Parts: sequence; C-alpha cells; structure tokens
Amino acid sequence: MIPFLDLQAITRMHGDEIKAAVNRVIDSGWFLQGRENQTFESHYAQYIGSRHCVGVANGLDALRLILRAYKEMGIMSDGDEVIVPANTYIATILSITDNRLVPVLVEPDIETLQIDDALIEQAVTLRTRAVMIVHLYGRCAYTERIGDVCRRHGLKLIEDNAQAHGCNFQPSALNFQSEKTGSLGDAAAHSFYPGKNLGALGDAGAVTTDDAELADVVRTLANYGSRRKYEFRYQGINSRMAETDAAALDVKLRYLDEDNRRRQQLAALYYDGIANPLVSLPRRLADASNVYHLFPVLCERRDELQAHLTRQGIQTLIHYPIPSHRQACYPAWNTRSYPITERIHASELSLPLHQALSEADVREVVRAVNAFR
Ligand SMILES: Cc1ncc(COP(=O)(O)O)c(C=O)c1O
Repeated sequence: MIPFLDLQAITRMHGDEIKAAVNRVIDSGWFLQGRENQTFESHYAQYIGSRHCVGVANGLDALRLILRAYKEMGIMSDGDEVIVPANTYIATILSITDNRLVPVLVEPDIETLQIDDALIEQAVTLRTRAVMIVHLYGRCAYTERIGDVCRRHGLKLIEDNAQAHGCNFQPSALNFQSEKTGSLGDAAAHSFYPGKNLGALGDAGAVTTDDAELADVVRTLANYGSRRKYEFRYQGINSRMAETDAAALDVKLRYLDEDNRRRQQLAALYYDGIANPLVSLPRRLADASNVYHLFPVLCERRDELQAHLTRQGIQTLIHYPIPSHRQACYPAWNTRSYPITERIHASELSLPLHQALSEADVREVVRAVNAFR
C-alpha cells in the first residue's frame, strides 16, 4: 500500500524536536500571543524575505484578512474586483466574496496549470484593485508580465502561497537574484494546514508583507480589531496562531529546504520515468521554482487511471474535482464556461509525493502509471 500522504512518517522525521518544542509550551503555561509566535514570525519573515510576518489561525483567514485590511485602509471597497485564476482551491475565491469583493476568474495555461498571464490585462476594468495569484501545486505562478501589469494599472499583487513554501521566482535577467514566493507582491497568505510542505499540528496560517501598515492592520483585525486591551478600532475577528503550532513550525522550518529538495528528487523520478501517451505532465520547471506540494498529471480517462492505481494499492487524490464556478455555493456562476479550467478539473490526478516517501515507492507508482492502457 502506498498512501498519498503519510503524516505519521513525516512527523516522525523530526518527532523528538517537535515534541520537545510543544512540551516547552505546555510547561510554560502561555498558549497564545507569546514568545513562540514572535520567534516563528521573525524566522519565517526572514526565510521568505519579507519585512513583516503575522501569524493567524489558517490560510483562508490570512487571505481574508489581507483583503479586509485593504478595505479598512481605504484601498478597496465593496464591489471592487480582484483578478484570480479560475482553477484554484475554493479558499482563494471565498476570501474575495467574503469581503464583498468580486472575483474575476481568469483561465489558466494548460501547460503550466497557472493563471495565463497573457489574459490578465484584458480582465482589468476601472473597478479592478488587485491580482491574486496562486502558486498552485507548489509551482511559481509569478511572471514579470504579471508584475508589469500590476504596476502599470496600480493594482495590488497578492500571492496565495498556501501550497508553495520555499518556492522561488527566478528573474530572466542573470544579474537579478531569485526571490521567494510570498515576497514577490504587496502581500502574501500562507497556510500551514498539516498536509502542506510546512505543516502545523492543526490549522495555522500567516500573512507576509513589506508594508508595515498592512501588517499592523492585519494583526489588529485578527485580534478582535484591538491594539490595546478592551479598545476596539475595527470590528475584527479572532484569528491567532497557537503557541504550540508556532513552536512546532519553527522546528519544521529548519528542515523545509531539505524536505523540498527531497520532494524535487522524487519528482525528477516521476518526470524521467513516466512515459505513457495517455498521461501528460505539466511543463517541467527548474527545481527552484517548484517545491512539488503536489505532483499533478493529466489524463482524459482520469477516473479509470485512478481506479487502476487503487487496484495496485496506490492512493491518489484529485485537486480538484469541481471548479469553483460549478460549486453550489456560487449558483450565479454555474452556467459560465471556463473550458481550460474545466478540462483540468476533469483530468487532473495527483500522485503520491512527500518527503518521507521512498524512491522504491515512486518507482512502483511510475511502473503502475506506465502500465495503464
Ligand atoms: C491554494 C490554497 N489557498 C488557500 C488555502 C486555505 O488554507 P487553510 O486550509 O489553512 O485555510 C489552501 C489550503 O487549504 C490552498 O490550497
């Protein structure tokens, strides 16, 4: 049996250190808004290359709070538009509609599975305030063209970095250094859901930004809207990261690059080994620009491929079976057509890939994929 994800094995890799960190918090009796959050925020900001990091309760809140903060700062208001890829996890879209903003869905490129940067500018209107890119599957979605469109139209660039901790954008000019996703735009949201490349012991998330005011407003909104005890500047929410999670994340952050390298080595075995005309792989990126949160393949007979792999004891998942515009929660969009998005959702299958997976298991998956007829 090859499970899709093995959180027991992943946690065991640094189990003693994680347990020691969590025990330290338990013994301290200090569970929220303490030293562990401060330390992790400072280390994570440094790692990403942003001036500020604010720990929050989950990735959806991180996205929601960025937009809510821009509204409180007078940069966005009800009915303004946010350009976003049509193929993303629903949380990206929920963060926009939750703020009474309007998502403008843009089709992805079938080769990269990322938002098609050639289609962004034609989606810009007088109401557009931001472009929200998603580094889906661990692949860098940023391009110089996206940065350029945002600058020329005065749009905020927000990154959904839930799936891409440690990923880099490599500029085309050789004399420019690569930069981490999560530091490329005006603000970024990160999820530390347990299954992510950097996963907590429950839900957790963060906002990174260079903008001190934005960081302050996000932090305040996440604390009931309060900067000073019992004084409420905004009608805020409660969205804070537990000290136990911050402590565990600080341990796991030290191993993130090593874990991502392992994912990249295993992904190379998939790229080099999979040869089946019925199965296509997204364009191979340089390792720096893909931390392989997931390993998606496309197959028109996806459900048959999944059943074939299940019979061989290989667990796979679909990311994601139903696109946002076809979900019951957005009935007004259900009749719209986004053919490339729909094609991806109908044909995507994610193969097992994580840092505790063995090469032998990956070779077994390759063999089984290649045997699919
Ligand atoms: C692309 C994307 N955005 C946002 C989220 C939301 O993160 P969370 O589950 O921490 O709320 C997730 C993960 O679940 C995600 O994959």
